[in-house]
Amino acid sequence: MKLFVIGNPIKHSMSPEIHNYWLQSYKIDANYQILEVEEQDLADLVERIRRKELVGVNVTLPYKTIIVKYLDKLDDTARMSGSVNTIYREHDKVIGSNTDGVGFLKTVKKDLDLNVNNKNFFIIGSGGASRGIIFSLCNTNIGKIIISNRNTKKARLLVEEMKEKQKFFPIFQQTWSDKIIPEEIDIVVNTTSFGLKENEELKVDFRNLNENTVIYDIIYNPLETKFLKKAKSAQLTTVNGISMLVHQAAESFRKWFNIEVSDLLIESSKTKLLKLLSK
Ligand code: ATR
Repeated sequence: MKLFVIGNPIKHSMSPEIHNYWLQSYKIDANYQILEVEEQDLADLVERIRRKELVGVNVTLPYKTIIVKYLDKLDDTARMSGSVNTIYREHDKVIGSNTDGVGFLKTVKKDLDLNVNNKNFFIIGSGGASRGIIFSLCNTNIGKIIISNRNTKKARLLVEEMKEKQKFFPIFQQTWSDKIIPEEIDIVVNTTSFGLKENEELKVDFRNLNENTVIYDIIYNPLETKFLKKAKSAQLTTVNGISMLVHQAAESFRKWFNIEVSDLLIESSKTKLLKLLSK
């Protein structure tokens, strides 16, 4: 049995490390590989899943949205977020799902031991990852979300879309030029790709926050972005993207094999990745 993570570029993906470890641990005779694809390859990949040649695939940049049109069905997470990171088969249908939101929520609940009820979020970015996270907070009892995105129009459209889907959803926008994060914020999340390169530093002003505020960057490579370094030196609690990466992978694994990856394996995968990435 075979699985792929598809994207372009793809060679830096850590997903094979995680999934092959779990496949071996659960004694499943399958392997998971990276596959660099062009857009014209997508239809054929979906067909291979339909024909049971592949168990499923993970999808990453730049195909998370484009892939939608090739699928038979989207589950709620993919439909609401408009982006797909996991494809699996159910009977003869090929289905798209987005496990980023589950990965985010599990990290907040399990790793940070935080209950999201009444919590206020400040979310930087309004691309695919941001959408997955925001939609995962839809059915919870959060205080509010403030989003800020370089492209103001994109943020406004996301706020409007959310209000359309859920009339009283407490989501607001802060202009990109206003860098000060309001004091009532409990969790700040960078969902943008800005920070992947060592010299990139998101401009934010943490002056109104206190040490209970969590600063979360979904980037895991580098393990500590400049954004997190700055937060750390301001005595704030910081979290990188390792945990979300592993938890979203576990949710994909569950879709493919109907197996709930054990907490022990989740923890040892994080340790493994930390080791690999700190080299
Ligand atoms: P993903 O699926 O990883 O979220 P995406 O949908 O392309 O990827 O979204 C990327 C996000 O990173 C967007 O919010 C983007 O902001 P714009 O909408 O203004 O493009 C943000 N982003 C990328 N490069 C950025 C930069 N240099 N500064 C600020 N934000 C950036």
